[in-house]
Amino acid sequence: MTKKILITGSNGLLGQKLVYRLLNQADIDIIATSKGNNRLRTQSGYTYHPLDITDEQAVKEVIAKFTPDIVINTAAMTNVDACETEQDACRKMNVDAVEYLINALKTQHTNPHFIHLSTDFIFDGNNGPYRETDIPYPPNSVYADSKFMSEKLVEQSGLKWTIIRTILVYGVVDFMSRSNIVLWAKDALSKAKTINVVDDQFRTPTLSEDLAEGCVLVALKGATGIYHISGKDFMSIIELVNRVADFWHLDKSLIHPSKTATLGQAAERPLRTGFILDKARAELGYEPHSFEEGLAVVDTQLKDQQKD
Ligand SMILES: NC(=O)c1ccc[n+]([C@@H]2O[C@H](COP(=O)([O-])OP(=O)(O)OC[C@H]3O[C@@H](n4cnc5c(N)ncnc54)[C@H](OP(=O)(O)O)[C@@H]3O)[C@@H](O)[C@H]2O)c1
Repeated sequence: MTKKILITGSNGLLGQKLVYRLLNQADIDIIATSKGNNRLRTQSGYTYHPLDITDEQAVKEVIAKFTPDIVINTAAMTNVDACETEQDACRKMNVDAVEYLINALKTQHTNPHFIHLSTDFIFDGNNGPYRETDIPYPPNSVYADSKFMSEKLVEQSGLKWTIIRTILVYGVVDFMSRSNIVLWAKDALSKAKTINVVDDQFRTPTLSEDLAEGCVLVALKGATGIYHISGKDFMSIIELVNRVADFWHLDKSLIHPSKTATLGQAAERPLRTGFILDKARAELGYEPHSFEEGLAVVDTQLKDQQKD
């Protein structure tokens, strides 16, 4: 039977990848929603409807209009430092809007499945990599708190729910509103800019296509609970940037090691996160690309963009 999947934040990195991934999937009607106009290059094969998820009434109306079987909530205020300076906006987007979605879905009589995206930042970063069973303890940051609060709302929603936590997502989409670590490092080094890169933060960086695949596996299998979905290669940020430089044959002498504490960033960062993927592998059949395979995907897409 055809299932209706509604995606929030479909203009974003994950949102766009999800729409493209689901276009190839049989028996799925895709309802792509995001704030403002549709920025996907492909304009057919799905329905686009503008939706600002901080508008409670609009959320109610869109859920009532489309009666989705599954909602994948990718929309979020994802700029961690901006969340420190714009705390109200962060709370509205990352917490209140999640509540609006939950409340709207609770009025449906079809037992809809709510799939919500969360982050490694709900962990303090003292002893990563983390499993789903590890106890979250958010560092001192408004973004981390907001995502932790959203998880609690989802868990207590009474809906059929899944929380997908992910880490440092990289990839290429059209008309991106913000960059990511791989594109930033490649771009800076290509322009022969010196960059300071932390050597005391550790992550399992995630190719956006892998994250989309993890979300689709959850949706199609109807898997519930918490899943950690990230890349499989654990590395420091400086190692990541060095591997970017190696891949594109860029000058590594431009990369200067630095410490998180010296950066003066508004929000505290957890130092050592990363995920253990055993649960996602065993229950979903999730298998991500290696980091270099991910860079090869990015490289192909950048070349395709240049051709257009
Ligand atoms: N990216 C990461 O490294 C990372 C790491 C851990 C967890 N996550 C989580 O993964 C999820 C997806 O992240 P992402 O990287 O795909 O984020 P993203 O690229 O920033 O995408 C978020 C999208 O939501 C849209 N949006 C903003 N305000 C909105 C509103 N009020 N209503 C509806 N849509 C709105 C944005 O629109 P505009 O483009 O027009 O601003 C953007 O297209 C988020 O929940 C994030 O917290 C991401």
